[in-house]
Amino acid sequence: MHTIRIIGAGSIGNHLAHAARSHGWAVTLTDIDPAALERARTDIYPSRYGAWDEAIVLKDSAAAMADPADVVFIGTPPDSHIAIANAVLDRLTPKALVIEKPLAGPDLAGCAALHARVTKAHIFAGVGYNHSLGQNTVAAEKTLKTGALGPIATISARTREHWGGIFKAHPWLSGPADSYLGFASRGGGAAGEHSHGINIWQHFAHVIGAGRVAEVSAMLDMVTDGGVAYDRLCYLTLATEEGLVGDVIQDVVTAPTEKSCRIQGRDGFVDWRVNHRPGHDAVISGTADTAEETLIAKTRADDFKAEIAHLEDVLAGKVANSPIALARGLDTMMVIAAAFKSHELKRRVRIDWHEGYTPEALI
Ligand SMILES: NC(=O)c1ccc[n+]([C@@H]2O[C@H](COP(=O)([O-])OP(=O)(O)OC[C@H]3O[C@@H](n4cnc5c(N)ncnc54)[C@H](O)[C@@H]3O)[C@@H](O)[C@H]2O)c1
Repeated sequence: MHTIRIIGAGSIGNHLAHAARSHGWAVTLTDIDPAALERARTDIYPSRYGAWDEAIVLKDSAAAMADPADVVFIGTPPDSHIAIANAVLDRLTPKALVIEKPLAGPDLAGCAALHARVTKAHIFAGVGYNHSLGQNTVAAEKTLKTGALGPIATISARTREHWGGIFKAHPWLSGPADSYLGFASRGGGAAGEHSHGINIWQHFAHVIGAGRVAEVSAMLDMVTDGGVAYDRLCYLTLATEEGLVGDVIQDVVTAPTEKSCRIQGRDGFVDWRVNHRPGHDAVISGTADTAEETLIAKTRADDFKAEIAHLEDVLAGKVANSPIALARGLDTMMVIAAAFKSHELKRRVRIDWHEGYTPEALI
């Protein structure tokens, strides 16, 4: 039986605990705040999944820091991720270390050092961009690999979601100023919180062989009143090493939500959709004259079950190139960091990958 220790018993911690239990894993759920552990047991978990699962061990995160586990999962706010990852690695070498998105703040502090550290430790490290593991992603990849689209002209991704839903899931927060969400420098705002959009764009760019993002041009709409400092709109134009040009829009204002990624080829298109219809993701594909819609039944819990299933494959040594590998999460961090720099300088920013995951790589 696999074991997982989850650090952070908030929204994502409960999702992962439930997904791991549904795969029969032994779960320890930890938090720095005793009120969060109590809320997980009496509120979040039972209200989402019907009843609390007595097999889940609840523990103070500091007291559990040296407890061994196959997988250590960090589901805390972004500005704490890297310090907690280093604290874990100071005490033990899990088989896998998975950190939630976004990995860090746009200053990239600690990113290069963490990458070097896990590479040296020869462990699997990942970042929770779990949309890249979904059935809709697998289906879209299959269509892309047939070559029926001809040469790819562009990719266009959207993660546009009013963040009212996040605050509904966190009734103890009174608004963005109450957490990292209202501070771009701490990994909040549209660029960081909705960075699934950038990540899925990068994922499909890899699938079609277009390489990494080499240039970023950004326009952000910053909110700075009421003690916050975050981007509510994040518009990006991207170009890859192989010359593919496309765009990403992420925002925290759009309702109803739009989560999509369209890959347009000379001869046809694939449109990847999340929650396209109630309870369903979708892949729409076709040509200028035809379109076929494939619906894929999915619950929110399934997103995290797919992540646990993937980690089972990782632990079994079956995964050579994981879409959620740390390097992919770092690639997304570089685009986020380049976006803030581009917005500030009011010009395109180039990513020099030879410089590693550092601000010096942003030119
Ligand atoms: N992949 C996804 O689809 C997805 C979905 C939701 C959230 N997330 C990400 O998960 C992360 C957490 O978000 P959330 O909504 O669960 O937040 P949350 O506020 O609900 O929970 C975070 C928990 O971490 C705890 N915590 C804070 N600092 C800690 C520390 N040093 N040690 C131990 N515990 C600590 C807090 O007490 C809190 O209970 C964010 O990075 C967010 O972007 C990802």
